[in-house]
Amino acid sequence: MKKVNVPVVTLAAALAVVLTLSLSANAQSAPDLFKSKCAMCHGADGTGSAMGKKMGAHDFTTAEVQKLSDAELTEVITNGKNKMPASKSLKPEDIKGLVAYIRTLKK
Ligand code: HEC
Repeated sequence: MKKVNVPVVTLAAALAVVLTLSLSANAQSAPDLFKSKCAMCHGADGTGSAMGKKMGAHDFTTAEVQKLSDAELTEVITNGKNKMPASKSLKPEDIKGLVAYIRTLKK
């Protein structure tokens, strides 16, 4: 049994190390996060995809969205709103980055 288990454990440990390293190396920047998690509804430029608009998303470049406070933006991104799903997998620093990114979309 031991003969089989030792290499398996070693392999699992090696995999865990590789996974941890690649995960931390892959810490996504806010623009990348936005592209991968938000753009399908909000559009790469924040003005909203056809689907997002149909669901009720607003144009991030407009005063209507830009007048929202950081706390309000954080709240929507964290907990979702109506048809927008909550993004529970995002870390607080990710959400902070996304809020800052939304500010850069202002016209
Ligand atoms: C499945 C589509 C969908 C995805 C994915 C999505 N949203 Fe939304 N989002 C919406 C909709 C629809 C609303 C409008 C909610 C309402 O007011 O009814 C919204 C609203 C918002 C608002 C408030 C301004 C507004 O348009 O009303 C912010 C800020 C926001 N989303 C940010 C994000 C961020 C950042 C992500 C990625 C982490 C994201 N959303 C992902 C659909 C989506």
